[in-house]
Amino acid sequence: MARATTHYVCSGCGHESAKWHGRCPGCEEWSTLVEEARPTPVPAAGGGARIAARGKALTPVPLAQVEAPRVARLRTGIGELDRVLGGGLVPGSLVLLGGSPGIGKSTIVTSALGNLAASGRKALYVSGEESAAQVRLRAERLGEAALQVPIVAETDLEAVVATIEAERPDVCVVDSVQVLHAAALTGGPGSVGQVREVAGRLMRVAKERGVAIVLVGHVTKEGALAGPRVLEHLVDCVLSFEGERERTYRTLRALKNRFGSTNEAGVFEMRDEGLVEVEDASARFVAEATRGAAGSVILCAMEGSRPLLVEVQALVASTELVPPRRMANGIDRNRLALVLAVLTRHTGISIAGADVFVSLAGGVRIDEPGADLAVALAVASAATGTALGNGRQPLAAFGELSLTGELRHAAHPDRRLAEAAKFGLTQVLHPGAVLPDLRTALASALDRSVGQSRAA
Ligand code: TYD
Ligand code: MG
Repeated sequence: MARATTHYVCSGCGHESAKWHGRCPGCEEWSTLVEEARPTPVPAAGGGARIAARGKALTPVPLAQVEAPRVARLRTGIGELDRVLGGGLVPGSLVLLGGSPGIGKSTIVTSALGNLAASGRKALYVSGEESAAQVRLRAERLGEAALQVPIVAETDLEAVVATIEAERPDVCVVDSVQVLHAAALTGGPGSVGQVREVAGRLMRVAKERGVAIVLVGHVTKEGALAGPRVLEHLVDCVLSFEGERERTYRTLRALKNRFGSTNEAGVFEMRDEGLVEVEDASARFVAEATRGAAGSVILCAMEGSRPLLVEVQALVASTELVPPRRMANGIDRNRLALVLAVLTRHTGISIAGADVFVSLAGGVRIDEPGADLAVALAVASAATGTALGNGRQPLAAFGELSLTGELRHAAHPDRRLAEAAKFGLTQVLHPGAVLPDLRTALASALDRSVGQSRAA
């Protein structure tokens, strides 16, 4: 009988089995067996000396003598994307672009390929999800350059690899990695084994042929890229497109980047003519901020290495619900729980028996502890019904809260203050401004407010 070309390997303990089991016979974990292509057996060299190495010995070289040619990056012509990539795509690299459906992944890659093609690079768009006609309809909205992108609609991995080999593009986009299918594996497209096999094959093509390949991947319900996080270690760069489909603002972040910093983030706005870069997001958010209303504070946040001013809004409303609701939009729920606990414990502001809603304006998401103080002040302002700020300009703040109620240093205070000053915000509460703890910060904020207090 012919030997099967695949087998099942436990992702936990590495146990191999010819058949699939719900529970690994090795470590007894459930649902860990993943289908993999069998490696081709290496014929044993002669008999006898079993310990003798089969490979040729290599000579190690000091790192300083390793040749590292400076390769020119492929600029996508989308400033925010290039910045997040660390200056553009690196030839021969594999980039994973993840995000929930409808966020704009296909849109941004089509625009990028259009720009690359217009600048004389050879581009290739492999569409597995949509027909060529559907991609054309999108490209029509994106302009003339996007319409020049060569496309193939294909889901068979072998055909895609053969096309890349034949066409030898500089840049190739595979939209999406979850629909490609390797015939050697029996698992359906999108299964862990398939996704791993597809990415592995494409990585080899990318490295051998010097093609920059962008894999588009969907995010699962759990928020992991491409199903389980099977691809993140394999690729050179993981970009994540975040935001809510219903809102216009989207952020692009690098979660991993072998060729640049992971501190960069780009802000985009979805318009009728595609994704538009928002270079001065702070200006937008400050202009749109509510003035003179309780529950609003401007957060001086850092989006990677770039400062961003964004409005934090809070609403505190009494409720019969037990336990009361705690809703966070744009910040981590657990972080909100911590801030609320510190607020009630160390300032005496009571939010028991009240629903608390906190939201960042514009659908922005901030995941840094430096947001704590602004969140605490917004909730305190909403709970006491006191508008913060001096009526003309809103109050701004940043700083981390410790569990004991002290204010902690947040990274890059100078850049945050400079950004606030740029937009005329002179009232900024932060750990450097002789504010030891939340209680003092709150007293100072309430002190400066114009006293539009309505009894809560
Ligand atoms: P799409 O790029 O297809 O998202 P993804 O590939 O991540 O699933 O597009 C997302 C949404 O953006 C889609 O609902 C339509 C909208 N859109 C615009 O508003 N303007 C445009 O110019 C384009 C191309 C799309
Ligand atoms: Mg798409």
